[in-house]
Amino acid sequence: MARLLILGGTAEAAELAARLAGDARLETVTSLAGLTRMPTANAGRVRRGGFGGPDGLAAFLKEERYDALIDATHPFASRIAAHAAEAAEMAGVPRAKLLRPAFERDPADRFIPVPNMPAAAAALPQGARVFLAAGRREIAAFAGRPDLWCLVRMIEPPAPGEAMPRGELILGRPPADPEAEIALLQNHQIGWIVSKDSGGQAAAKIVAARRLGLPVVLVERPSSPDGPTLPNVDAVINWIEATLFSRKTA
Ligand SMILES: NC(=O)c1ccc[n+]([C@@H]2O[C@H](COP(=O)([O-])OP(=O)(O)OC[C@H]3O[C@@H](n4cnc5c(N)ncnc54)[C@H](OP(=O)(O)O)[C@@H]3O)[C@@H](O)[C@H]2O)c1
Repeated sequence: MARLLILGGTAEAAELAARLAGDARLETVTSLAGLTRMPTANAGRVRRGGFGGPDGLAAFLKEERYDALIDATHPFASRIAAHAAEAAEMAGVPRAKLLRPAFERDPADRFIPVPNMPAAAAALPQGARVFLAAGRREIAAFAGRPDLWCLVRMIEPPAPGEAMPRGELILGRPPADPEAEIALLQNHQIGWIVSKDSGGQAAAKIVAARRLGLPVVLVERPSSPDGPTLPNVDAVINWIEATLFSRKTA
């Protein structure tokens, strides 16, 4: 039986594990960073925690005799993506990156592209009321702008003593419904959105901004390592078939 390691932490990684769960030719393990206290359900075996850098991941791949590696981590998880590429090379294990395409652009979008979160904070006008859906490590850049009022939405609560922007904090996952986002933005008189270009189908907050005509300071995604880059789960399944099975049966 072939062994596949999925580096997860995304909806696509979970979908891939679920799609492969019934394949008797494959044993699939999903690796999660272990940062989220309430991760979403994942089919198949799961392991948690870092590997200790590229050397650790290469050793893990070899010792556990993996035949292929799918890096299905988030487009902004650039460290693990680089480690995955390096480790797969060292271990001689085929690797592909599942990278959902950037947000589709619409003529009604008012995107202001910036390279990172500090640049996003710097791009906001004096006194702006901002909606900021961001991770714990990303909000610090906005704490240095006391003139802003920020509605911050996070999945995980900030650590005690963490520098927070001035404004209000809501905890929870983003809604799928743009109407819910429109109501949230209007209730808080938000004039600006800050978002990473996480990609995939435009998030509800992006659609909401579009409908309300609000500008979005959009943090562009980091570059990803060289090598096969696949846009969706179907393409990954084709790659697995070609890499692990066509070769063996030829
Ligand atoms: N960044 C985002 O915006 C975002 C959004 C949604 C979900 N996520 C998910 O959250 C996780 C962490 O993201 P990040 O931006 O903190 O990553 P990162 O900065 O690229 O990685 C930091 C370290 O976390 C460990 N790690 C990351 N993903 C891992 C995985 N799937 N399995 C085992 N170890 C992993 C690695 O530790 P070692 O070096 O010790 O191996 C890595 O060096 C990722 O799995 C990602 O898919 C991230």
